[in-house]
Amino acid sequence: MIEVIRSRRNIKKFKPDEVKEEDLMTWLQAASMAPNHRMTEPWEILFLGKETREKLNHKTNFGNAPVVMAVLSKNGATQIELIENALATACFIQNFNLAAWADGVGAFWSSIGASERNREILGVPDGYEVIGVLGVGYPEIIPEPKPRKPIAEKIKRLP
Ligand SMILES: Cc1cc2nc3c(=O)[nH]c(=O)nc-3n(C[C@H](O)[C@H](O)[C@H](O)COP(=O)(O)O)c2cc1C
Repeated sequence: MIEVIRSRRNIKKFKPDEVKEEDLMTWLQAASMAPNHRMTEPWEILFLGKETREKLNHKTNFGNAPVVMAVLSKNGATQIELIENALATACFIQNFNLAAWADGVGAFWSSIGASERNREILGVPDGYEVIGVLGVGYPEIIPEPKPRKPIAEKIKRLP
């Protein structure tokens, strides 16, 4: 588990090899075991076809990933619920990323879906946030790790 977490990278260039639908479903189903307050299960997934990808006009076409999916989070009735649901959906995405990575498949997490223009292209209804648009596929290049600060620098102990 630690090795999967440590070795995962945000992938920017993919091989054209197909990712099996069955594998995608396995990773997505596993991802939905993400923690979510009040069991809102706020995540929704849009698989993007060629036409939608062209309209988004991403600068590298998501590294030519064979699969691109937008992950939406349904907002709740309050601002707190919106934040909690977005956090739960981020957990969902990370679960997906790690499950796929354990099987050799990487993801490119892009925030391209956040703009008003791109929300329209994706047909995102009011009441939803786009947490990420993910390119998914077998990595062509695996980047070097971006070092993180020692965690001790981030820890305070309260009395
Ligand atoms: C909410 C969120 C949005 C992100 N949006 C982008 C993005 O638009 N473009 C991009 O290249 N990477 C994006 N990333 C990926 C980060 O840039 C990447 O995780 C970071 O550089 C660390 O690299 P690593 O994941 O390979 O360790 C995003 C990550 C998160 C969590």
